[in-house]
Amino acid sequence: MSKHLLGASNDPLNIPLDEFSAPLFQALLAYQRLAPVRFHMPGHKGGPGYPPEVAEAFRRNAFGMDVTETRGMDNLHLPSGVIRDAQDLAARTFGADHTFFLTNGTTAGVHAMIMTTCKEGQKIIIPRDAHLSVIGGVILCGLVPVFVYPKIDPEWGISLGIPTEEYERALRENPDVKACLITRPNYYGIAWDLRPLAELCHAHDIPLLVDEAHGAHIHLHPALPQSAVDMGADMVVQSTHKMLGSFTGSSMLHTIGNRIPPDRVQRMLAILQSTSPSYLLMVSLDIAATVARMRGHVLMSKALELAAYARERLSGIDGLRVLDRPGMDSLKLTLSAVGIGLAGYELKARLMDEFNVRVELADFENVIAFITYADTKDTVDELVDAVLNLVGQGSREARARVHAGDQAKFTRALFAPAERVLLPRQATLAAHELINLSQAEGRVCAEVVAPYPPGIPLLYPGEVIDRDHLDVIDHALQLGAVFRGLTTGSDGGLVVTVVRDVKR
Ligand SMILES: Cc1ncc(COP(=O)(O)O)c(C=O)c1O
Repeated sequence: MSKHLLGASNDPLNIPLDEFSAPLFQALLAYQRLAPVRFHMPGHKGGPGYPPEVAEAFRRNAFGMDVTETRGMDNLHLPSGVIRDAQDLAARTFGADHTFFLTNGTTAGVHAMIMTTCKEGQKIIIPRDAHLSVIGGVILCGLVPVFVYPKIDPEWGISLGIPTEEYERALRENPDVKACLITRPNYYGIAWDLRPLAELCHAHDIPLLVDEAHGAHIHLHPALPQSAVDMGADMVVQSTHKMLGSFTGSSMLHTIGNRIPPDRVQRMLAILQSTSPSYLLMVSLDIAATVARMRGHVLMSKALELAAYARERLSGIDGLRVLDRPGMDSLKLTLSAVGIGLAGYELKARLMDEFNVRVELADFENVIAFITYADTKDTVDELVDAVLNLVGQGSREARARVHAGDQAKFTRALFAPAERVLLPRQATLAAHELINLSQAEGRVCAEVVAPYPPGIPLLYPGEVIDRDHLDVIDHALQLGAVFRGLTTGSDGGLVVTVVRDVKR
């Protein structure tokens, strides 16, 4: 036998950490060394969101828990044992009739909702401010999207959600629609009563599908917005990893009532998810649901108190605004320093560079910090102190000035109707070419173009790129936005994917 197979000292896997040059691994080690104060997802904030003994078991046994469908471990696609039990308990915890664990995030759940309820060539109503996973479902299924448009808050330039009258209009104009989808709450925590929309959908005998990616926690406390699960929705998908403690990429899909056959959902998920779902992600969902069931109310109370404390410290400061709207999820702390000319993108970057504080999202004017039950007074103080310090310094070093109203202008452009010449699926699958963005006016987009986050498309596949789109992209890039659907070409310029041979 070779000596390598004998003594541990000759073990070929004895690679010193500083020689182990895996780029992602090294980056994660560096992130841990930096130990930023996290106001981004996942909601467990790096561990404090777990019961200490459970976290310890995880730390010791992560390898041991990374298993496959061996005896006793059940099967996500044919659940009849521990996975079925965990899903049933989760359904009870979050107020659903059936719950399906997702190991490909809410994205897979959005796709499954659409594939369960619509067939090729049919119509679905979707919000213009939907996350790009929604258009992914429309493309997969070959649907005709009927858009409804949000109200925009003129002061903050953010979506206030879609009025029910918009769905009424869309249904009047398209009586053959097969499902309505809505996103609620939105990234900023804005929420509203969904019952009228549920009643409208059911009066038309169609299901209401809700992208509740940002609301996995809201069923747990009456001071949070009511969950769609409790307001008549038929299917609701939640990113458990965003505001609760499961691992990134793990979500839950819930069905309520009897309009949606669970076996059809299971069949669609079998197509959309891996045949090797991660047990680490699944067990993190089981743990998150169990923590929610056992301590959900008290943990949400704690988080709400911390958010109220942050809001109190940040209120009444010259040049700083804090978003506060009736009925919103107050754990989403949206701040704007536009009063001192600081763009949201720059505020986010300076919090990170100068104070080691990382927030979840920036737009033209605002940043959003996610406060979760895993935070403490100390972490909240670090965020608040950093913001107050920056605002106190003013915008002397601001790279690009932003003006009140810029966000509203951007949002109006983002949510504006565009001219469609091909269906999203046709445009996605058509022959394509990459062209310089500066030459794209009048061409038909073959891919979603969306500032990310939040991942709300400016252009959908099949839509004509016009001058306004190019101006909006240009302005957003100058202020630091990052776009999905735009890449850097060999000459350093931006490149977009368009449909070949089709022009307006
Ligand atoms: C509104 C909304 N829906 C869906 C998604 C997709 O969720 P996931 O990242 O869990 O796949 C996101 C992600 O940010 C989102 O913001």
